[in-house]
Parts: sequence; structure tokens; C-alpha cells
Amino acid sequence: MSTPVKSGKTGGGVILPEVKMHLVRPNAPVKGVVVRSERCTSPKSAGFVRHVDIDVSGTPLEGAFRAGQSFGVIPPGEDERGKPHKVRLYSIAAPTRGEDGAGKVLSTTVKRTIDEHWDDHRLFLGVASNYLADLQEGDEVAISGPNGKRFLLPENLGGHDYIFIATGTGIAPFRGMLLDLLEADCASKILLIMGVPYATELLYHDFFLQLQEKHEHFTYLTALSRQEQEHGGRPMYVQQRLETDREIVLPMLSNDRTLMYICGIAGMELGIFQELARLLTGESLEQYLQCDPQTLADETSWSRRMIGREIKPTERVFLEVY
Ligand code: A2P
Repeated sequence: MSTPVKSGKTGGGVILPEVKMHLVRPNAPVKGVVVRSERCTSPKSAGFVRHVDIDVSGTPLEGAFRAGQSFGVIPPGEDERGKPHKVRLYSIAAPTRGEDGAGKVLSTTVKRTIDEHWDDHRLFLGVASNYLADLQEGDEVAISGPNGKRFLLPENLGGHDYIFIATGTGIAPFRGMLLDLLEADCASKILLIMGVPYATELLYHDFFLQLQEKHEHFTYLTALSRQEQEHGGRPMYVQQRLETDREIVLPMLSNDRTLMYICGIAGMELGIFQELARLLTGESLEQYLQCDPQTLADETSWSRRMIGREIKPTERVFLEVY
């Protein structure tokens, strides 16, 4: 069974696979077991991001998740009001075959939330992220899911090309999707643009470089927002890569096979859409965005509030921002 999804004006139909959801509810979670927890940034990184593998064998989650979906983590204990902690959703970073190849091990990419309270500047530690990042191999964790039916690769993997744009831990679903695509041995062109503040914060960097080396149809670009680029050039956000690397980006954007996936910090979609409006015209642009000519005439005045109203991403754009 498949769910047909309406496609952009000039594109062919994009069919998404039917997925399983809510097999395990947060109020009756199952126990997964942590089987690996590794840092996935350089040791010099200022932040702490870990790749965590969780064995879900023997639970309804076994073999039931897809790259792009998420799962729930229920931290033990109670919040400051004495209520049990609520479920937090984490993107699955594993490919659909799981980390183990048999759908028994899923994974996620978790960044420790470490901050100051705004009023009295005391240390604030995010409950779920620090719980998950603290877990040791062999520890049990209460989980639910799978969640999500829209942020998925299409059913016909080889029928499309792909632009993945991530900031920070928004890279998680793309790790899994990329492995799904490369292992399917399809000839699709794949471009991954990853944005972080500093080179030390690049996640899975060596892994992506190795994949790029091995697969000539996969291109990996980075955008560092607070330092010079690795090969020179000013600090930039991910959307500026669309412009600086237009010789790679434009042919992809203007063919009607391309799907665009955006995942990461809330607000990143606005800059990307503005950049699309600058780079593309007519039918090429309408493949991704639909808006009236007056709105289109001045993309500098766009705001986030207009997205989904005056500026409508088409079904070829997949968005997950938080
Ligand atoms: P900056 O923080 O320099 O403004 P992380 O999650 O590791 O902090 O990375 C998020 C990345 O996304 C940072 O490089 C951050 O830059 C960048 N970023 C912040 N706001 C936007 C935006 N509106 N569009 C694109 N990138 C953004």
C-alpha cells in the first residue's frame, strides 16, 4: 500500500511509502538497550553530540521503522510539577535496515542541551538530551514510536535526485536516508549541505567524506557560520551554498526529478526559500514554491509567518524544523 502525495506543478507524482506508526505508545513504552554511544564531533568541539545505538529487538519497533521517522524517549523521574516526564521525539539516524542490517538496532544523534537560566543565570541542563547522552552501553531506555509519515524518501528511490539541507543535529535523518539511497545502488544525484558554527561541530564529517570519495553521484558541502570555510571564503549559512556552488546546485534544481529535504534549526527554511526565489524563475521555481507574482517580486520582505500562507512549499519540499 502506498500513499500518493500531490506533487509540485511541473513535477511527476511523488509517491511516499506507507509506514508503520505508533506501534508503541508513550504511556506504555517498551525497553530498548543502548548498545553503542559515541561522540560524533571532533574532540575539540565545544558542544557534546553523541551517536547512540539502541537495540529494539523483541519489541514492536523491530523491523518497523524507516529512515526519516522518529521515535520517543521517555526520561525516568518527574518534572518540577511532580508529573512524569513527557516523551521527547528524536530523529532516527539509522538507515531503514537498522544499524545491524536486520532492523533490530535504531540510532539517533543527540546534542546535550546546556544553557543558563534566563532569569538567574544558573545552569540549565536539558532533561532528555542529557539523560540519553549519559546512558552507558547495556543501559535500558523507555521508548515509543515510530512517529512520522511525511519526512520520508519516496517509494521509487531511483526516480528522483535529492538535495538534503541540514543544520546541526538536523543531519540525523539524512544519515539514514543517504545510506538507504547509496545501498539501493540507484544512480540518483545526491547533494548534502551541512551547516554548523565551526568545523569542529561537523557531525559524521569523516563518514560523509568517505562516502563522497566512494560514490561519484554524491556531493557533500559544508557551510560554517562563524569561521572561514575550509577552502577559504567568508562565514556562511547553508542557503548561501546554493549560490556559491550554483554550478552543482542549479542543474539539480532545474530538473523535475529533484526533491528537497530541509531539517534543522527553525527559521532556516526562510533563507533557503528566499535563495530559491533569487536563483530560479518560472516553472523551475514553481516546482518548489508557489506564490503570487507580487510576493515573488520582493523576496527580501518575506517573513517566516508567510510560509505556508503566501509562500507555499510544494510537495517536492520536505521540511522538518524545530
Ligand atoms: P549561527 O549559530 O552562527 O547563527 P548547531 O545546531 O550546531 O548550533 O548549528 C546550527 C547552525 O545553523 C549554526 O551554524 C547556526 O548559525 C545556523 N543557523 C542559525 N540560524 C539560521 C538560519 N536562519 N538559517 C540557516 N542557518 C542558521
